Amino acid sequence: MKVIETISDMQTQSLEWRRQGFRIGVVPTMGALHDGHLSLLELANAKADKTILTIFVNPTQFAPGEDLDKYPRTFEQDKTLCEEYGADAVFFPSVEEMYIPNASTWVNEEVLSQGYCGADRPTHFRGVTTIVTKLYNAVLPDVAVFGEKDYQQLQVLKKMTADLNFPIEVVPGKIWREESGLAMSSRNRYLSESEKEAALAIYKSLHMAADEVTEGTDLIKVRQQIFARIVDAGGKIDYVETVDSETLEAVDTANGGIRCLIAAHFGPARLLDNMQLN
Ligand code: PAJ
Repeated sequence: MKVIETISDMQTQSLEWRRQGFRIGVVPTMGALHDGHLSLLELANAKADKTILTIFVNPTQFAPGEDLDKYPRTFEQDKTLCEEYGADAVFFPSVEEMYIPNASTWVNEEVLSQGYCGADRPTHFRGVTTIVTKLYNAVLPDVAVFGEKDYQQLQVLKKMTADLNFPIEVVPGKIWREESGLAMSSRNRYLSESEKEAALAIYKSLHMAADEVTEGTDLIKVRQQIFARIVDAGGKIDYVETVDSETLEAVDTANGGIRCLIAAHFGPARLLDNMQLN
């Protein structure tokens, strides 16, 4: 497995693989790898001949005061896992490599990125769409794999990829969970055992919501129940929404697919989770 640190070396390697007729898959990450990330790598291995996992803690998707500085950086461990799970290369650029000083160009998706996490973190998705575009340009992939764990991000990136005519297939990966049900996240490292236990209210309330919707309970009531359960467990809620699973429009009645999206703080961590309700 190769570790590649510059954009030009990455492009050279990808062009070489393309010339040899290989299909290239990419799994963009910010590192601190867990089984969720590795499930995406396995999916990429199934979809492509050569897979590249990228590790870059992207400063432009963090706002001042967020956890950029304390975000876990575990490169040596990540590298071992990538090797074990069959990545062909890890792309691990520095901030200076990815961002030219005084860069003044951004990639902005302007519909699906509004609301939910976009409302709580107004510059977040601009940072995500910009860095993923730059990673596409470095890696030159045929396939890009993103997790449903960050459901709004997945929809925004699918739309960006289509809108900008990238010849790249976006493949979604399922949410990977701890045995308890807690969605895996690099930010779970910030939690104590008792905070993890409390945070389970997010998963349990999503599960309850899916049961309630099957029984015909209306979505407004379902959201109220979720809200109460998370607050009871000590969580501080950013949002609990029921949305159309394609357009992300907030809905109160189930006509098409309904996804419930939750962002809530437990202890020092802002946690995201979501589930299809029907
Ligand atoms: P990061 O949080 O490291 O996540 C990298 C990828 O792993 C994302 O596609 C995310 O949805 C997926 N993922 C995280 N937890 C998961 C879980 N429990 N199950 C399945 N997939 C999971 O998301 C980012 O990084 C960044 O915003 C990035 C896209 C790399 C741009 O900087």
